[in-house]
Amino acid sequence: MPSLTELRPVATVLGGELDLRLFSYRDTTPLGSGSVDDEPYGGGAGMVLRVDVVAAALDAVYGGASRHRVVALSPQGAQLTQEVVEELAKEEHLTLLSARFEGFDERIVEHLCTDSVSIGPYVLSNGDLPAMVLVDAIARRLPGALAEGSGELESFSPELGGKLEHPHYTRPAEFRGWCVPDVLLSGDHGKIERWRKEHVR
Ligand SMILES: C[S@@+](CC[C@H](N)C(=O)[O-])C[C@H]1O[C@@H](n2cnc3c(N)ncnc32)[C@H](O)[C@@H]1O
Repeated sequence: MPSLTELRPVATVLGGELDLRLFSYRDTTPLGSGSVDDEPYGGGAGMVLRVDVVAAALDAVYGGASRHRVVALSPQGAQLTQEVVEELAKEEHLTLLSARFEGFDERIVEHLCTDSVSIGPYVLSNGDLPAMVLVDAIARRLPGALAEGSGELESFSPELGGKLEHPHYTRPAEFRGWCVPDVLLSGDHGKIERWRKEHVR
């Protein structure tokens, strides 16, 4: 499987509109032996990402408190929507924080982050895939990421009132008796436009 940075549209904007920097909490942890998490207070299974470790990482990268949005990726965060993507895509700088095992010490979310975002109501093993989902969704909203005009009239866009785009068809016009709607083959652009508007779902 190719890595995120090799895939379009991330690859297209990388080094231009998009600059990605990856950091490991292990590189800046103040704890010995590269440790970054600890047992939960009150007992129970799993390990929890420590607040001092994340604070040290942010200090090392930004030289103190960051002035931009810091997003914790968590199944307990606000659900990611296209509206949130559009908003985050306008930010000049963005930090995405990922955890694993039991997740973040709550003080990280409360005091070191501005946002907490979930990519959906299910639990993944760590925040790497959620971070990649967010980077991809943001990258395709950056100038030059997509072919002219292909990113505006999409599902969930304000232009479609947050609804889903009309269905698409390509050749062959008929396959196993499954036919493309006649209007799309008619060459009548007015009718096609009307059909597309009627089929926004
Ligand atoms: C196994 S999960 C922790 C689940 C947590 N104990 C709970 O029950 O809510 C480990 C990490 O994966 C990431 N993660 C998992 N599912 C996610 C989702 N749906 N959205 C965003 N991040 C997620 C988060 O960084 C999370 O802290």
